Amino acid sequence: MSDKTYPVPAEWAARAFLDADEYAAMYQASVADPDGFWAEHGKRIHWFSPFTTVKNTSFIPGQVSIKWFEDGITNVAYNCIDRHLAERADQVAIIWEGDNPSESKTITYGELAAEVNKFANVLRNRDVQKGDRVTIYMPMIPEAAYAMLACARLGAIHSVVFGGFSPDSLAGRISDCESRCIITADEGLRGGRKVPLKANVDAAIERLGGGVDHVIVVRRTGGAVNMEPIRDVWYHEAADLVSDECPAEHMNAEDPLFILYTSGSTGKPKGVLHTTGGYLVYASMTHQYVFDYHEGDVYWCTADVGWVTGHSYIVYGPLANGATTLMFEGVPNYPSVSRFWEVIDKHQVNIFYTAPTAIRALMQSGEEPVRKTSRASLRLLGSVGEPINPEAWEWYHRVVGEGRCPIVDTWWQTETGGILITPLPGATALKPGSATHPFFGVKPEVVDAEGKVLDGATEGNLVIADSWPGQMRTVYGDHERFEQTYFATYPGKYFTGDGCRRDADGYYWITGRVDDVINVSGHRMGTAEVESALVAHPNVSEAAVVGFPHDIKGQGIYAYVTLMADVQPSEELRKELVAWVRKEIGPIASPDLIQFAPGLPKTRSGKIMRRILRKIAEDQFENLGDTSTLADPGVVDDLVTNRQNKK
Ligand code: WTA
Repeated sequence: MSDKTYPVPAEWAARAFLDADEYAAMYQASVADPDGFWAEHGKRIHWFSPFTTVKNTSFIPGQVSIKWFEDGITNVAYNCIDRHLAERADQVAIIWEGDNPSESKTITYGELAAEVNKFANVLRNRDVQKGDRVTIYMPMIPEAAYAMLACARLGAIHSVVFGGFSPDSLAGRISDCESRCIITADEGLRGGRKVPLKANVDAAIERLGGGVDHVIVVRRTGGAVNMEPIRDVWYHEAADLVSDECPAEHMNAEDPLFILYTSGSTGKPKGVLHTTGGYLVYASMTHQYVFDYHEGDVYWCTADVGWVTGHSYIVYGPLANGATTLMFEGVPNYPSVSRFWEVIDKHQVNIFYTAPTAIRALMQSGEEPVRKTSRASLRLLGSVGEPINPEAWEWYHRVVGEGRCPIVDTWWQTETGGILITPLPGATALKPGSATHPFFGVKPEVVDAEGKVLDGATEGNLVIADSWPGQMRTVYGDHERFEQTYFATYPGKYFTGDGCRRDADGYYWITGRVDDVINVSGHRMGTAEVESALVAHPNVSEAAVVGFPHDIKGQGIYAYVTLMADVQPSEELRKELVAWVRKEIGPIASPDLIQFAPGLPKTRSGKIMRRILRKIAEDQFENLGDTSTLADPGVVDDLVTNRQNKK
């Protein structure tokens, strides 16, 4: 931990929306009178019919219910597009930068309106109606944003599935929300390599044995794909037949906007459900203040639309604010490790938002690939997805930002809809590695294992004491699981699953997950999911998966595998198991290390002692804690010896 402090630069104090005193006053007002505060800020979006109630929320176990602005009527696509047309029809809404540096284009708000309306009409012609679920499995091309906004326009609920997920993972997500319509592309393109999206959709539907009526295929690479008659349609052909006008459905503030599946500590991924009004108010307000977005700024978030960061901070937040948002199809190291910085120069990017894992990977190539670009347009840097270690922070600040750009280290989750703990560039003195202070309306608390609220400088688990408008409303189709997962551990409070330290200056430092979720390169992976993929292999009898510190990914995936009695461990089998998990879940779930274990440490009641497995994976052999409750303590010695032999 570093306790170095970077004050707000003078130019920032002059230009930012808020300084330190204004932030403090506004924060106080937001927690003292949430109804009054959000009644005012709820007006930042357009309502067809205004809300008359503001906050109606309960965290009480058995009656958890979260409603904001509940009688207001609005439409998210109207807010992201139509509302801007009078003033900004010719302003660029989306800058698209292709995987190949010679491919890029701009889309104005006027063009965005026509594209989204056409897309909505194509969906409508396939009988997609308000409340229907539509699965979007797309590369990072503008049509991904059009598809999301088209759903929002019609009141259909989109479920975007990251293009790196396998047919199996995709199938699970299609069937959980029963989507009958899928939007995809022939192939994706990343780092010069093709991703067989349509073929994966076909395989997913085959696995489901049907249930999908429509597959809309956007042509991206022109690669050959199988088109099933009647079910499948090329988007460009369907779009040619429809008008570019489509009315925006009148939506209640609490009508669902989207489902996004995310990994938890147990079971299969949960469908996190976000609704319309509160989500948009929160996404747009955080985007404005955290990135201090001013008229004319060019803003770039490098996330994929398959993750919540892409939803809130590539599409909905920026477009609701009439911003210019950059969408990047490629990867940081293609064609060279200067790509990010070249894109910044090419499009004169002012605000750049990325993940620590990308910074750590690029740091390895040294300063030269950064220094040879100008980056003079940059004013602000952001970080998201995992704790940023102070070394990476300092490099980002000194090399990428030339020492002049503040870094906003934004802590939040799929469940929170938007940023909860973050600096504001004109208001907050920065400490490298700290997400600093809560955003408006957010009441963080640090609690001990029993739920006792800890005061002052302390360390424990992070909970949020009251609701904010962007909060998830339920787990799709399973409200009981919503209550159990987030409100049962510390009754009456939202449990984040993260550990946290608060220093003597009241700064928050997120220390990482305290549950069985691993954060691999900023992507959430449930250990239970990787385990169930491993045990699905015919040679595996049992598996336990934990995280371990990884220089670039933040955390890596460490799998302990017990084989069937008649199977011998081999290098070949190890490779086969890694490939197996990639195929079952997707490349992001590939185990970094597999240790064959004749036995796993278990309590006498048969529960795997993950605490011990984590320590062994971290090489903390001295620190294994109490092993006396194990059914067979000898198992641990075997594991340690094996691990040490591998080093
Ligand atoms: C972690 C991503 C430290 C955290 C927006 C959280 C962070 C999980 C930060 C959510 C940060 C996200 N500092 N940790 N600035 N941002 N995390 O749902 O563990 O993909 O619980 O949402 O990422 O990941 P998710």
